[in-house]
Amino acid sequence: MVISNGVQKIKERLSIEEVVSAYIKLEKAGNNLKAKCPFHNEKTPSFFVSPDRGTYYCFGCGAKGDIFTFVEEFEGLDFRGALKLLAQRAGVVLETYNPKESEAIFSEKEKLYRIMEEATVFFENNLAEEKEVIGYLKKRGLEDKTIKDFRIGFIKLDWHLLYSHLKTKNFSDTEIEKAGLVKKTEKGFYDRFRGRIMFPISDSSGRLIAFSGRIFVDDGKSAKYLNSPETPIFNKSSVLFGIDKAKEAIRKNNFSILVEGQMDLILSHQAGFKNTVASSGTAMADSILSKENIINNLGLITRLSKNIVLAYDADKAGVNASNRFAKIALSLGMDVKVADMREGMDPADLISKVGVDVWREAIRNSKHFIEFMLARILKDTQNDRRKAGRKIKERLLPFVNDLESSIEKSHFIGLISNKSGIFENALIEDLRRVEVELKHEREDTKIAIENVEKKLRKDYIERKLLGIALWKKDKKLEKTLAGLLEKYKDSENDLIFEAEVFYGNSENLEKDKKELLANLEEERINEELLRKMQELRIIKGKDEEMKLLAEIQELNKQKHEKKK
Ligand code: CTP
Ligand code: MN
Repeated sequence: MVISNGVQKIKERLSIEEVVSAYIKLEKAGNNLKAKCPFHNEKTPSFFVSPDRGTYYCFGCGAKGDIFTFVEEFEGLDFRGALKLLAQRAGVVLETYNPKESEAIFSEKEKLYRIMEEATVFFENNLAEEKEVIGYLKKRGLEDKTIKDFRIGFIKLDWHLLYSHLKTKNFSDTEIEKAGLVKKTEKGFYDRFRGRIMFPISDSSGRLIAFSGRIFVDDGKSAKYLNSPETPIFNKSSVLFGIDKAKEAIRKNNFSILVEGQMDLILSHQAGFKNTVASSGTAMADSILSKENIINNLGLITRLSKNIVLAYDADKAGVNASNRFAKIALSLGMDVKVADMREGMDPADLISKVGVDVWREAIRNSKHFIEFMLARILKDTQNDRRKAGRKIKERLLPFVNDLESSIEKSHFIGLISNKSGIFENALIEDLRRVEVELKHEREDTKIAIENVEKKLRKDYIERKLLGIALWKKDKKLEKTLAGLLEKYKDSENDLIFEAEVFYGNSENLEKDKKELLANLEEERINEELLRKMQELRIIKGKDEEMKLLAEIQELNKQKHEKKK
């Protein structure tokens, strides 16, 4: 298979050291290299890279693999996504991406990527015909090059424009529907996006995975922005708008800027702040934000840099969202700053109406989240010391409580005392109370973080194992993994392909399989343990508690046996 040659060529051209150090800083450790593990939160390095073997291993969380798995896990991509990135980096042309090659080797997902590409081109061509829409975009401050770079498009207000177009390109109803581009009624299919300016959303490898459409003529009832639904290629909780264009700059500048909307992001990039990402169109923009979703969305940018500047709209919704992200980001050990937006403005307004310089200043003068909140509280309460004290306890100390390090905590207690005139001792006492009150909440967050880390690990093992089962037509293994077939039904070809590439030359397939199975079992036990620990905290009755404790003990025992 042509593509396996590609994989071989990439491995010859790129060393593990080169690939990993493009993302994180490695230190020498004998023949090996070490670093703080990017896949779990740790203070001392337990992540090792072996240049001789071309592999990495983390003694803390068990993450391991080669250049491909590293990019997969770090970027949150599937195998083909990682392949695409590494091929580009190595200067290897992968034949599969030539559309002339036989259809058979395109996986289901690959088909969806191609539909998205086709739709994007269609929207782009439509925009070229619409003087009025282009005029609007220009008026908003967008340059021609920006419109082109971000592949902004348009679709007229009609029912079947895109659907009909895709049909002429031989895509099936099922495929078009799966891509989230049409909706179904008894009478047939109609376009999801109508009369909208179209912003394509890409994953970190630059593949088009979704759209966000902005209404062009407000009819007073349609939502201003409409986004693609979840699809096999669009997982809302693991992508940020603009990440493909921002990740390099985030790493280089060692901080990211998080804005709300696509216009904010695009204008910020145009102004030279290429380290900007937006939560729009992703799970971060949904009104009900689970901790897991935020942690997931922040995943890649946290791995790229621990420093983040929040630049949300200076309105109520923006402030609320900011607070929610800050809570999680602080718990993840991130350094969270806030850019001061002028009252009622968003970054897009600031850049296009006031000027790039003011945006630059806002970023440069961004203050640590806690300092920012403190300033706001002191301003709101004027000279009323008692009122200020109460607000600090209610609204600020919970965030101090989220800080990971005690050095940081005491630093901010000092700062708050200094600026508010409240004695440090009093603040420390209040913080103690807050710590007790919010103990559960903090534990919840910790568990959520662990859940996300564990899930990534588990999904990864599952995919590898199921790949082997399907590739080798190993019915026994398939049976063991029965529950997974449904979950991965859109990726079967990908998994087979991945397994073939990985284990094609392996003499130890049986051994690898056993090891993966043991790993999976361990992850399942871990998951069960986490669940029971969570249950334990909300339980009231003594009997129930004893029962749970016994179960936890049993699981721990199983885990230790597995480890051996
Ligand atoms: N948003 C959304 N659905 C809506 C409204 C908003 O998904 N019904 C998302 C969009 O990504 C939007 C962001 O939330 O960009 C911020 O919303 P808002 O501030 O209302 O929009 P603007 O970005 O200011 O819109 P524009 O600049 O295009 O006028
Ligand atoms: Mn806005």
